[in-house]
Amino acid sequence: MQRRAPEAPRGGQQQPYAFKKQKFNFKAFAKLVGSIKPHFWELAIGLILGLAATGMQLMVPQFAKQLINQLGHHMNTGLMGLVIAFFVLSALISAVSGSVLGFFGEDVVRKLRKFLWAKILRLPVSYFDETRSGEISSRLINDTSQVKDLLANSMPTMVTSILQLVGALVLMLLMDWKMTLIMFIAVPLVLVVMMPVIRQSHKISIARQDALADFNGQSSEILSDIRLVKSSTAEDLEHEDGNGKIEKLYKIGIKEAIYDSIASPLMQMVMMGMMVGLLIYGASRVASGTMTFGTLISFLMYLTQMIGPFTQMSQFFTDMAKTSGSTARIQEMLQMPEEDQTSGESVALDGKTLAVDHVDFEYEKGQPILQDVSFEAKPNTVVAFAGPSGGGKSTIFGLLERYYNPDKGEIKIGDTTVTGVNLTNWRSQIGLVSQDAAIMAGTIRYNLTYGLDGEYTDDQLWNVLEMAYAKDFVSDMPDGLDTQVGERGVKVSGGQRQRLAIARAFLRDPKILMLDEATASLDSESEMMVQKALEKLMHNRTTLVIAHRLSTIVDADQIYFIEKGQVSGHGTHKELINKLPLYREYVENQMMLQQAPQTA
Ligand SMILES: Nc1ncnc2c1ncn2[C@@H]1O[C@H](COP(=O)(O)OP(=O)(O)OP(=O)(O)O)[C@@H](O)[C@H]1O
Ligand SMILES: [Mg+2]
Repeated sequence: MQRRAPEAPRGGQQQPYAFKKQKFNFKAFAKLVGSIKPHFWELAIGLILGLAATGMQLMVPQFAKQLINQLGHHMNTGLMGLVIAFFVLSALISAVSGSVLGFFGEDVVRKLRKFLWAKILRLPVSYFDETRSGEISSRLINDTSQVKDLLANSMPTMVTSILQLVGALVLMLLMDWKMTLIMFIAVPLVLVVMMPVIRQSHKISIARQDALADFNGQSSEILSDIRLVKSSTAEDLEHEDGNGKIEKLYKIGIKEAIYDSIASPLMQMVMMGMMVGLLIYGASRVASGTMTFGTLISFLMYLTQMIGPFTQMSQFFTDMAKTSGSTARIQEMLQMPEEDQTSGESVALDGKTLAVDHVDFEYEKGQPILQDVSFEAKPNTVVAFAGPSGGGKSTIFGLLERYYNPDKGEIKIGDTTVTGVNLTNWRSQIGLVSQDAAIMAGTIRYNLTYGLDGEYTDDQLWNVLEMAYAKDFVSDMPDGLDTQVGERGVKVSGGQRQRLAIARAFLRDPKILMLDEATASLDSESEMMVQKALEKLMHNRTTLVIAHRLSTIVDADQIYFIEKGQVSGHGTHKELINKLPLYREYVENQMMLQQAPQTA
């Protein structure tokens, strides 16, 4: 978590608040939807049934007209029964249509999420360096819902709304064209009055959603780093920061309340005015005998039927604007190049020399991190990397894990360039115990076998725990192997976490082992245990170790001294002491550091 000015939007890539009038990119949307192959037949059925239900609703005022016009003569029970059956049937069809469209929507969102989730997991590490995780999960959760809403709710409603409007228009024209004309002059007038209010309230609703997403993202980010907040005594800062966001939501909410409360009475007033006008005109027509009472009533019924479609159509345009943004964000993610995890040959790494050959690398353009780095690790030897902090040691490991690709030069195993080796195959043979031994929320058992296919007996797990000097503390835990370690392993200590990571490495039995030694000073007992565990783990495999402990450095077969992204010298400890003054200085410093606690 980085500190930044409270006003600056976190992440900085997109400015979510501003309501931008986005043009709906139909091509991009169609391509996205087409690529997930949803059950279009469900959409078709839902739409057809929806249209049928709408058509039936259009008939209702016609029946009403007939019923009303017959009043006073005799009760037509047959027609009455028919109308009731019609009502029930139309409700049933409407319900089925709604369900089928709902199924369709869920199918869309499911496929879209699966598609995106698979994509996200295959994006390279560099993508995650650049993009906030909150933003990524928002694409997976919110943007996919948005696409579903447009496709399964707004679009079908739009189609039925059009039928409703056109159908009503035609039927009304057939009944009485003069009355219809008056109504269709009045309706656009109503729209002219209503439009600014509707538009403004849509703007506000979009702004509210963006502000909510922003507040949500920020608060969860802070909650996940609550220890840092507390240790930095940043509560007040975050308090203010959060208050700012809450205030913003409040202001948007106030505006929304005003517009909403203007909108509905205004709408009611205008509708009432229209109705009264129509009634007066209609009543005079009825009085003069040029129109039946039933026709007048059915006109009023059509008028009320038309309000829904009008508001739904404006909702549709808002949804299109929102979905356009969502589609663009999803598309952008889908266009990111993935790691190629499937192609390439499988190569057994044991017994082969690992060589890094004149490698250059930069995380960001124009900021070279590694320059002309070369080294070699013969099978079953220990190669240590030492050097000042920020020199690029962990970066080298990142390249070896193939999180990133070198910009220049190559990495070879035996005679093969690693870019030709299947990525999954490569990573499954490499064990990395990193600087901040990563542990997931879950049980110890879950963490040990994480990512492994096979079934492991308890005995096997206890065995690796024993080799990693972790058996004692795990058996002391209340639930043994099934103890929960908490989010990111907060319930186990740093040294325990490392030993669990080592136990996991034992279980994976990698051909090449990479250890990024933690600088965090463990107490001498757990340091000794970690050290012993590591020595055992190094046995019989090629080991690359970023070494801070002097003992590891001294015992290594080859030491590479990495400084400012370059190899400034290599050799055994003795050789380097003699030929590289910087190394000698480094070792002396390390010695002083490591002796200090004992002499103090
Ligand atoms: N993901 C990243 N994106 C951009 N720059 C990075 C990234 N990771 C590391 N760097 C930069 O690369 C340089 C080398 O970092 P690296 O982590 O390799 O150092 P290191 O030798 O492992 O240091 P230490 O001994 O402190 O762990 C640093 O200047 C760092 O700022
Ligand atoms: Mg490092």
